[in-house]
Amino acid sequence: MDEEYDKAWSGRFDRLADRFTDEFGASLPVDRRMWEEDIRGSIAHARMLAQTGVISGEDAARIEEGLSAIYRDIRDGSFEFSNADEDIHMAIERALVDRVGPAGGRLHTARSRNDQVALDTRMYVKRTALELAAGANGLRTALLAVADAHPGAIMPGYTHLQRAQPVLFAHHLLAYTWMLARDVRRLRFAHDSADSMPLGSAALAGTPFPIDRGLVAERLGFGSVAENSMDAVSDRDFLVDLTYACTVAMVHLSRLCEELVLWSSQEFAFVVMDDAWATGSSIMPQKKNPDFAELVRGKTGRVVGDLTALLVMLKGLPLAYNKDMQEDKPAVFDAVDTLADSFVAVAGMVGTMRVDEGRMRAAVRGGFMAATDLADHLVGQGVPFRDAHEVIGRIVLACEADGRALEDVSLDELRGFSPEFGEDVLAVISADAAVSRRSSRGGSSPDAVSDQFGVARGRLEADREWVASRSPE
Ligand code: ARG
Repeated sequence: MDEEYDKAWSGRFDRLADRFTDEFGASLPVDRRMWEEDIRGSIAHARMLAQTGVISGEDAARIEEGLSAIYRDIRDGSFEFSNADEDIHMAIERALVDRVGPAGGRLHTARSRNDQVALDTRMYVKRTALELAAGANGLRTALLAVADAHPGAIMPGYTHLQRAQPVLFAHHLLAYTWMLARDVRRLRFAHDSADSMPLGSAALAGTPFPIDRGLVAERLGFGSVAENSMDAVSDRDFLVDLTYACTVAMVHLSRLCEELVLWSSQEFAFVVMDDAWATGSSIMPQKKNPDFAELVRGKTGRVVGDLTALLVMLKGLPLAYNKDMQEDKPAVFDAVDTLADSFVAVAGMVGTMRVDEGRMRAAVRGGFMAATDLADHLVGQGVPFRDAHEVIGRIVLACEADGRALEDVSLDELRGFSPEFGEDVLAVISADAAVSRRSSRGGSSPDAVSDQFGVARGRLEADREWVASRSPE
């Protein structure tokens, strides 16, 4: 507790804070990433103040000139951030006053940091939701390309991680594109929930100055103006929505990464990770580890924690602004950064992995996966399903006892278990035939999957257009 600084509120205080409380209360190291939003918001505010006659045109021009110079300095890395500033709002305002003098001191008219931070974070969420949606779309593109490159690959489909029925590898990969399509929908929802302009709410109750909030909203590209000043300065739903969207997307990536870890193990060996996306061991020379898939899986836990931190921080806060809310940004930024990087990592791994179609087929062969089809065949011959299930169960047991696959059993042997097996039963046992028969809409047959490709590509195109239409030119 040694040094004292000059504060924006020094008028009301006899004694000012010391270095520890300054640092404890500061958010500058975290919120400085919103510098661009802060400057754009301030320029829109200053212009509006001049248009409504609250400040003079000359002052607004000086403010805008100063802010533009600060913008260039921060962009070029020559801006000197000072620990004396609590947050990005104070840092930029202080620099402005240093640069343009008393005109700079007029910028904060009819405004508070409470509506200012609400504005900046909303602008940040709108921009970030678009960037993350573009990341999700990139991964969808990579998954579609890999699926497209292996149209005939058949792998075991699993339930309980036990081989269940053969499916097209493309069908399995496409399942993830639908998760990502829903992730984009959630990001879009977060974007829209941030699309309400809070500035002009001032500290909490509005302002006596004759401001025009619609002008600011229009200039900054907001769809609407927040209708209640107290809600506007204390609403953080849009951060919860964004972080929730990030969390669900991470859970999806984590599930995909778990499959990559399994598939690249020697037990499965369905894929081989590219050298660029794997690591070696410092002690075991034979190892090639899917580190990055594991990391994405691991980081998912932290993002779930970010969402929890945010919700618990908000729970129980009275209206309106409370300093607790400053703790929103570390959680949100962490979730956003982690998801953005994870999209890149997973797209990189998926796009470069080598797919071993032969290993997938071998796993199908040993997996008794024609069992359901054999039962269905007996049903077609008039056998009740429960009896058919029993017969096939006994065949599987017998095969297991002497280490054979279903494909190795002859028609005569089958008829020994049930005289009802027809001549055409052997065709039923083939994995290709089993896959082709699953031709219901959304099923795994080549025709159904090719239809699905069409719909998935159309959805991706529509989502790309949404990102492009909302992104600033
Ligand atoms: N740094 C604060 C935050 O991130 C913004 C300032 C809020 N206003 C105040 N009176 N402390 O929430």
